[in-house]
Amino acid sequence: MKRGNNDLPCIELRHPSGAQLDVYLHGAHAVSWRSADGGQNLFMSSKTDFKPGCPIRGGIPIVFPQFGDGPLPKHGFARVTGWDLLDTRLHESGYAEARLGLHETAETMQVWPQEFRMEISFRLKAQELEVALAVMNTGKGEISFNIGLHTYFLVDDIAKVMVSGLAGARLMDFLGSRQEEKEGREKITIDRETDRVYPNAPDRVLLHGIAGGRGIAIEKYGMRDIVIWNPWIEKSRRMEDFGDSDYLSMVCVETGNLRGRVTLEPGATHKSSTTFTLA
Ligand code: BG6
Repeated sequence: MKRGNNDLPCIELRHPSGAQLDVYLHGAHAVSWRSADGGQNLFMSSKTDFKPGCPIRGGIPIVFPQFGDGPLPKHGFARVTGWDLLDTRLHESGYAEARLGLHETAETMQVWPQEFRMEISFRLKAQELEVALAVMNTGKGEISFNIGLHTYFLVDDIAKVMVSGLAGARLMDFLGSRQEEKEGREKITIDRETDRVYPNAPDRVLLHGIAGGRGIAIEKYGMRDIVIWNPWIEKSRRMEDFGDSDYLSMVCVETGNLRGRVTLEPGATHKSSTTFTLA
C-alpha cells in the first residue's frame, strides 16, 4: 500500500492490461481510474484537502447511510470514515479486485445508533470497473438507509457532454419546483447548474464526452435512482474545495438508492452495484 496525499494509505489496484485504480482507505474512495486505453476516467479537484474527517472532492465518494442533508453529516459518514482493507487479488477469471470493509464504531453509533457491516468491492478489468456494495444488518432491529456512488467523471469540455438513456424517465429538479416531471430529451446536455434526481431510472445510461472524447456505459443493479449534478459557475466559486472553473471538466452521474431508502431486517443483506464500461 502506498501513502497518498497527506500521508493517507492508498491501495494501488493493477490489472495486467495496464488498467489501474487508486483507492484511499479514507472513505473507501477511488481517486483515480486509468483504463487500459491510458485514459483517466475520474475527475479530482486540485483543491481537495485529503484531511481526515473531510470528504474528498472528486473520484467516487460513497454515500451512506444518508443522501444529501439530514440529521447525519451530508451524504452520511461512509465517505469520511477510515475503512479496513480486507483483500486484494487477481482472479483467474480475469479481474483484479480490492475489498474494503466498514462496521459500526463508537463514533458512528453516536450519530447513527445502528449495528451494521458493509463491504465494497472494486473489480477492475481492462476497460471496465465494477463497484459492488453489500450492507448487512448485524443488529436486532430494522435499519433503513440511503446508499450510492457519487461518481465524478472527468470530461474534456462540459459543452460536449451528453447523457442518453433517460428519455421518458421521471425526474425531480432539486433546483426547481421539485415537482415530478418527465425527461423529454434523448440526449441530456449540461449548460447550467444541474441537480436532478431520476427516481426508478432505467438501469443503463450512456455518458458521452468523457476525457479523450470517449463514452462510457453506466449500468446499475439493485440501485433505483440516478442523479446528475454539476455545480456550474456560482456554486463552484462558493465551494472551497473546488476550483472556480472545475465545473467545465466534470459531471457527476450518481447511482444508488438515493431518494428512497432501503429497509433491512435483522440478519438481512442488501447488495447493489454499478458497472462502468468504456464504450
Ligand atoms: C449531489 C447533490 O448529489 O451532491 C447536490 O444532489 C450536492 O445537492 C452535491 O451539492 C455535492 O455534495 P457535497 O456534500 O459533496 O458538496
